[in-house]
Amino acid sequence: MTNINLEKKHAGVAASELIDDGMVVGLGTGSTVDFFLKALAERVELEHLSIVGVTTSFKTAARAQQLGIKVLDIDDAPMIDITIDGADEVDQHMNGIKGGGAAFLMEKIVAKNSKKIIWIVDSQKVHEKLGQFPLPVEIVPFGSGKLIAEFATQHLYPILREKDGKPIITDMGHFIVDLHLETIDQPHELGNYLDRRVGVVEHGLFLDTVDEIIIGTSHGIEKIKR
Ligand code: A5P
Repeated sequence: MTNINLEKKHAGVAASELIDDGMVVGLGTGSTVDFFLKALAERVELEHLSIVGVTTSFKTAARAQQLGIKVLDIDDAPMIDITIDGADEVDQHMNGIKGGGAAFLMEKIVAKNSKKIIWIVDSQKVHEKLGQFPLPVEIVPFGSGKLIAEFATQHLYPILREKDGKPIITDMGHFIVDLHLETIDQPHELGNYLDRRVGVVEHGLFLDTVDEIIIGTSHGIEKIKR
């Protein structure tokens, strides 16, 4: 196993230990979350835990069911007790960028409906300021060219996310534009600007959202708490 994967595994396993019997658990998306899901599924089987998951992507829903974790639609579930999710970049203020896996719209909705939110990341993702990771923005396909042109005018360096020469389509049917900013000095101002743009469905800035970050290291974990 590579060192990064070992770090991800340490974080995922540590997060699985936070789940108690009877909990409604928000299940994030990504390779780090996959380690969490495997560890959680083991506990469910060994300890006969009665938990239900609310998923943040079609991919996670399929994976959870494959691992034997019961999944409920968010609208059929009570308030989510705890959500365990990954992130693409985090700063010392516990803000983050999510959406590398194109699931951040559903991730943000699940986060908004969770009592407690915990991110699991490897040590490479912790930076002083956000922005090294391109900021994903989910946009409506209609008029997307105009919106991307506006972002370019605002020096936000937008690039439409594509696969095989075609725009990728999110689980919710939208496009993603990645803003290649290098450094985000004022994340709240940028978030507010994006929130006000017609055609923007959601952006990948998760500010003042998370309660705890578990950082995997080669030897174990470190935690940042609010
Ligand atoms: C999904 O859209 C993202 O927000 C993921 O949580 C993020 O990309 C982390 O993924 P990895 O754990 O695979 O790095």
